[in-house]
Order: sequence, then structure tokens, then C-alpha cells
Amino acid sequence: MKEMEPLFKPRSVAVVGASRHPGKIGYAVVKNLIASKYEGKIYPVNPKADEILGLKAYPTVSSIPGEVDMVVVVVPAQFVPEVIEDAGKKGAKVAVIITSGFKEIGRADLEEEVVRRARKYGMRVLGPNIFGIVYTPVKLNATFGPSDVIEGSVGFITQSGALGIALMGMTIVEKIGVSTIVSIGNKSDIDDADLLNYLKDDEETKVVLIYLEGVTDGKKFMEAAQNFTLRKPLIVIKAGKTAAGAKAVASHTGSLAGNVAVYSTLFKETGILEASTVEEAFDWARAFSYLPQYEGGQLVIVTNGGGAGVLATDVLAENGISLKTPPEPLVNELRPKLPGFASLKNPIDVTGMISSEGYVEAVSAALRSEGVGAVLALYCETAVTNPEDIAEGLIKEVNEMGGLKKPLTVALIGGRKSYNAVEMLNNARIPAYPMPERAASAMAAVINYVEARERVRLRLQELGNS
Ligand code: ACO
Repeated sequence: MKEMEPLFKPRSVAVVGASRHPGKIGYAVVKNLIASKYEGKIYPVNPKADEILGLKAYPTVSSIPGEVDMVVVVVPAQFVPEVIEDAGKKGAKVAVIITSGFKEIGRADLEEEVVRRARKYGMRVLGPNIFGIVYTPVKLNATFGPSDVIEGSVGFITQSGALGIALMGMTIVEKIGVSTIVSIGNKSDIDDADLLNYLKDDEETKVVLIYLEGVTDGKKFMEAAQNFTLRKPLIVIKAGKTAAGAKAVASHTGSLAGNVAVYSTLFKETGILEASTVEEAFDWARAFSYLPQYEGGQLVIVTNGGGAGVLATDVLAENGISLKTPPEPLVNELRPKLPGFASLKNPIDVTGMISSEGYVEAVSAALRSEGVGAVLALYCETAVTNPEDIAEGLIKEVNEMGGLKKPLTVALIGGRKSYNAVEMLNNARIPAYPMPERAASAMAAVINYVEARERVRLRLQELGNS
């Protein structure tokens, strides 16, 4: 979708309301553009300044000598219409309006005026009432959030600004690499559907996660979502599901939270994976961004603790996934290596007396076994094993396999060393979690996505034939 290109890959960015004062949003945006090593040209715009952060400042967008693709607007609301008019005349293609004080406080008129002026010049509008946009492939960080986001393949679209900024910081700590983070706020023009239509073809984005309060054009969203899920997984956290939550949504971004059942049907029909918490949504996104696609075959759990296996089995069952007896060759391979009281059903319980090497060997055997389509590895820290050795061993095995050929999620449950091991695995792009339910839920999403996508494909085929 060519029209959206300047939003993600602008060749130049003008920041209108670029401030000389640290602590102001207009200062932070310019600083982030510089710190992220944005590859295009940066033009601070401020009639009172000659230079900002070492860059020449211009009094207006129209006075900038070169072409301007994107204007980031950080001036108070009452000045925004005239800034848009000036940027439109200059030929800017997209306005990213950070400023608050529009529809969310009852000033829909001012918001409409801004969009009307932008449309006159064929300019698209992101926002208002947002924290900006990140697109790591071109090192664009036009936000007042953290400057050091990690490059990766998760796309994150958020209707909430403050929560979005906070989660931006969380992705850094959690080492979740992102391709893009888009704050959409009031969605006066560009909405989730426009972004999905662009990101479905974006090679840098493997999965998209949306924090959604409400959609304005249900039909447009549905079409975009189903076209997206045919290509890539789409995870949604729907906020405002209760009557009280819906009321909070109305005063937050001015959206209508809508009927829970309607959204639920819409999500099912379009193949959207609905997460119930933010943590779950990011857990799933991590798994999708690291893992190869599930190609069928049975899921095998390998655990050294019965309880962890039971908890994971429950989560899988709640998500419609039942476990079958592991393939016989795998059972035959493992039996002589395990104590007589080990269970070789599914979950395969290698017992608490297994060594670190023995545990890694069992997981590796499951991964190599034909007929096994996915592996869920659960480990409870004991005094006879070292979780860091286990992480190291698993990383080595996966490297020797030439990378993961089938989905693997891991939970290492225990103390400090287990937490370190989780981090080691995530750094090696093997999705790992500190709790069995989280690893199981991520695996369920990976498996269920394939089924959800098939349902969408069949439904569209039927519609096409009718
Ligand atoms: N063109 C260019 N520059 C201008 C113009 C103009 N027409 N008018 C003013 N400026 C300059 C100012 O001189 C100032 O620069 P200076 O500090 O060097 O003097 C700069 O632009 C900013 O203008 P201020 O009047 O100082 O505005 P301030 O920075 O206080 O506020 C802002 C502007 C941030 C846009 C504010 O109105 C606003 O909307 N804040 C909320 C933003 C927000 O939270 N958005 C949602 C994000 S998500 C979340 O909730 C985290």
C-alpha cells in the first residue's frame, strides 16, 4: 500500500514544535530521532529557535528547503490546523499529531477541521493524542518514549498512549524486538485497518499485536484483519469489555468499546487471536516472532516435574489442544535412558532425578522425532541440575539442528538461575518463560493460529463460491 509508505519510511521528518527545552515533548522527539540514528533528514521547526540539538531550525514547514515527507506535530491544539495547512502546502504526505485536546475532550470539531485540511492536500493523519511512531528498519523513532527499542519482527499498534509508552519500555527489558510501534490514539484518519493493510506485506513484520479499545468502521477492520491473518498472526487485547471499562474507554480515546459478544464473533471470524492480558499478548508475540510455523504433527511435553506438566496440560485443554501418546520410536529411544518410574505418556515426565544433560537430550530427541510437530519443554529447578547449563545445552542442540525446524516453547521455573536461563534462551530466540502456563499458552497460540487461518481461508472460499 503505497499511501502508507511515508508513515513507515519517510525520507525526511519535520518536527513542528521542536523545543529548545529538555523536558518538553518537542525536545524529546528530536532527541529520539537523532539517538535512533534515523536514516532520513530531520528538520526541527520552531519560529523562536535557530538551532535545536545541533540541527538548523526553521520557522515554518514551508520554509524548509528540501522535501518533507512526514511532519510530527507537537504544538498546542489550537495551532494544529494552521500547521497542517502549512505542511499541506509544502507537500508533506503524512502528519503525526502527538498533541492532545481534540475528540477525547469533546473537541471533535477541531479534530475534523484538522482532517479536513489534511485531506485537501492528500495528506494522511496519524493521531491526534498519540506518542508517535517507531519503525526500526529505517531507524525511525518519532516518539517521546524510550530511545533504545530493540530491532525485531513484532509490530505493536496501540490505542492507548501512556500504556503504549510503558509497554515500549517493557519490550526493551523483556528483549522483545519490534519492527514497528504505532500509537493511533483518536484515529481521526489512519486506523488499525490501514496499518494492517500495510503491515501484512511488510517483510520486516512477522506478527502484529493490537491494544484495541474500539473500532469505528467494523467492516473495514474485518476485511483488513482477515486479509492480515491469512498471511500473519494477529493478536488483539480488547479493552473495555465490562460496562465500567467501556465507560472508561469513552473518556480515554473517545471510542465506543462496543458489545463484547460482537467483538468476540468478529475476532473468531477473522482469525484474530484474542489475548486476555497484556502479558499473554506479548508472550504470544515473542513466540510468533522467534518460531517457525507449526506444520502439523503432535505436540509433546517434556517435563522433569509432574505438576508443571499438569498445569500446562490444563492450559492446552482450555485452548482446545489434546495430547496424544508420543510416537513409538521416541518412546523407545528415551526408555533406556530414564528411570523405571519415568512416565513416557504425554507429558513425558523424565523425573526430578534427571541430570541437566539427560534433560537436554530428552528435549532434543523430541525435537528430532518424526511425527512430533511441536515441543513444550518444562523444567523445575532442582539441586541435581543447573538451569543455566540446560539453557546452554538447548541452545547448542538447536544450533546443531541449524535452528528450530518446529515450534518449541520452554518454561524454566525456579530461582535466580532459572530466570537467567530464561533470558539466555530468549536472547538465542528460543521463546522461554518463567511459568509453565505461559509457555503452554504461547504454544497453544502458535498451534491455534494455523487452524484459525484455515478457517478464514475456507470461509472466504465459501463466500467466493456462493
Ligand atoms: N510552530 C512551531 N513551533 C511552535 C509553534 C508553531 N506554530 N508554536 C509554538 N511553538 C514552539 C514553542 O515555542 C515551544 O518551543 P520552546 O520550548 O523552544 O519555546 C514548542 O513549540 C512547544 O510549544 P509549547 O507552547 O511550549 O507547548 P508544550 O510543549 O507545553 O505543549 C504539547 C505542546 C506537548 C503538544 C501539548 O499541547 C500536548 O498536547 N500535550 C499532551 C501530549 C500527549 O500526552 N499526547 C498523547 C500521548 S500518549 C500519552 O498519554 C503518553
